[in-house]
Amino acid sequence: MKQLHFGVDYYPEHWERARWDKDAALMQGMGIQMVRMAEFSWHKLEPEEGIYEFGWLDEAIGLFGAHGIYTIVGTPTAAPPAWMADKHPEILPIDREGRVRGFGGRHHDCQSSPVYRQYVRKLTEEMARRYGENPYVIGWQPDNELGNSHQELCTCASCRKHFQGWLRKKYQTVQNLNQAWGNAFWSQEYNDFKEVPAPRITVTGENPSAMLDWKRFCSDLIVDFAREQTEIIRRYAKNQFITHNYMGFADKVDYYKLGELLDFVSHDQYPGGFYLPESPHEKEHVLAATLDVVRSYKNQPFWIMEQQSGITGWEVMGRAPAPGQLSAWAMQSIAHGADAVVFFRWRTCAMGTEQYWHGILPHSGNPGRRYKELQDFIHEVNPLMDSLQGSMPNAQVGIVFSFEQEYAFQIQPHHKDLSYTRQLQKYYHALYERNIPVDFVPQQGDFSKYKLLLAPLQYLMSPEMEEKYMDYVGQGGHLLLTMRTGVKDVNNICMTERELPGRLSKVAGVEVLDYDCLRDAQIEVLFGEEKLPAGIWSDLMRLLPGTETLASYASEFYAGEPCITAHAYGCGACYYVGTEPGEALMDRLLSLACSRAEVDSLMEPVDGVECASRENESQSFLFVINHTGECKAYEAPEGYQLLKGGQAGALKAYEAQILQRQKMP
Ligand code: GLA
Ligand code: ZN
Repeated sequence: MKQLHFGVDYYPEHWERARWDKDAALMQGMGIQMVRMAEFSWHKLEPEEGIYEFGWLDEAIGLFGAHGIYTIVGTPTAAPPAWMADKHPEILPIDREGRVRGFGGRHHDCQSSPVYRQYVRKLTEEMARRYGENPYVIGWQPDNELGNSHQELCTCASCRKHFQGWLRKKYQTVQNLNQAWGNAFWSQEYNDFKEVPAPRITVTGENPSAMLDWKRFCSDLIVDFAREQTEIIRRYAKNQFITHNYMGFADKVDYYKLGELLDFVSHDQYPGGFYLPESPHEKEHVLAATLDVVRSYKNQPFWIMEQQSGITGWEVMGRAPAPGQLSAWAMQSIAHGADAVVFFRWRTCAMGTEQYWHGILPHSGNPGRRYKELQDFIHEVNPLMDSLQGSMPNAQVGIVFSFEQEYAFQIQPHHKDLSYTRQLQKYYHALYERNIPVDFVPQQGDFSKYKLLLAPLQYLMSPEMEEKYMDYVGQGGHLLLTMRTGVKDVNNICMTERELPGRLSKVAGVEVLDYDCLRDAQIEVLFGEEKLPAGIWSDLMRLLPGTETLASYASEFYAGEPCITAHAYGCGACYYVGTEPGEALMDRLLSLACSRAEVDSLMEPVDGVECASRENESQSFLFVINHTGECKAYEAPEGYQLLKGGQAGALKAYEAQILQRQKMP
């Protein structure tokens, strides 16, 4: 397979045929090596049922190929055409309020519908047969952002039937289901699996156990939808890759499971924020965490399939990226493990929903500031990409990330401001500020390589996970556990045998006897001499003999009681954090935990400057990225040579440098 590193998302169906050649020539001049095409063009490929028109795509692939540009083919199954919806209205999804979601946007499809599946299989097969051996086609992207636009997920009759089948397989008997879901509550017992609904809105709240299984089912359904396509494609495309464009921490599908179908994972990175009026421009540490979680999904380097290349926006817009900022963001993606970056999109679209989601070229199609900037970027960075390929950060700190915990907190957030992913990102932030590389790790992952493992909000707990954590600490690991650990079993039922955190009390050295949900309230916590803010929650605990108090509450009726503790266990240590620390408290806590676990930092922190690293057997690469519009100075660690950049130690506005060091043999 070719090693390609830079591309663009291109929509030949949006432009006149006469323009394609000019686009290809401009791309070539910029250093673009690949295009992704066709992922929304079902009607162009099958304008009427069974009538296939692949000529235009053949031509586009060939034309780009002649310019040395390879193609990633998207299957257009995120946008079924109107003729299909008209003929088979049952393929349209039905939301939780029982309303049909109509044709006219995208993802207006039910992923369990046998009729829809049949159309999907047929088109995928036609495409795979046609392009599976095309020398200019390097890979595939089935569908687009699976799970996106499925906020409501479908509750149609077909989905209900599939859900019942999924439950039958899992629980065997309806008595087991009643038991697992606690259906004695409010007379929710079923006599038959056939009675179980797909959850429509109810008059009051829902059964949390039923909702958790529903979310698991919806995730499995999406994986199954993708599996059908990947199996077909693999039959024809022996030398082409299959990937999919993920959305960072998005929660609709368990990305670890989806990743098992793929050669590598891709991701869409839009630092400028999204199209919703309330969605913020994300802070740099959140962008970094997003890239790190994407790397964790297969624990290997990934691709960016859509990297922001201009103002983002649908109905409302984000800010214009400052000169240099698009390059800094692209470099950030590479720094965290991207082996290739595909920019979204080539040219700003003149029609449809995304007229203001800007591409490299403006509406006019004339190359301007963004073209020039990214051209320089590609010319400078592409020669280095082969040697970066495959390298990974060597993180000593892991953060456990689990879709199941995310689902459980969505169902019962406890506090209006408690978010599982946001809390993880707050822990991440303190490490980011200290230039300490982090891996996210799935619960089933290998913990043993981490000196320090942060496992916030381990709310659903199984005996196997308890063993795994005990073992990790017993063997010398430093583990951080928090509030709301070990509360529920995997069926989302509260555990009652022991005080919290259940069997992990032995490791943590605490028993939680009571708690306070800090609704509309903040507290202060005394850490050393400083009183620092915290919020969301307070665990009130009894310490087992030998447990050390690192911080205590300085507010409320529990002032003076322990809030953060440390406990030696086996060859390791366990921290327990009874609250959600504010930024300063988080910083003090992680500084202490990192120094006790002897975790190394990459370089002295500089405000607004990010530092990340990738390594392979023989070399370490250090990325130093200035995310500000001002000049910044930093002290390069010893032994590093400047590979890319003006002058080591001095960063211009938005400059990103790469340094390299040969490893000792
Ligand atoms: C997503 C999608 C693209 C496009 C962009 C911009 O990431 O994958 O098709 O919609 O957002 O909105
Ligand atoms: Zn459905």
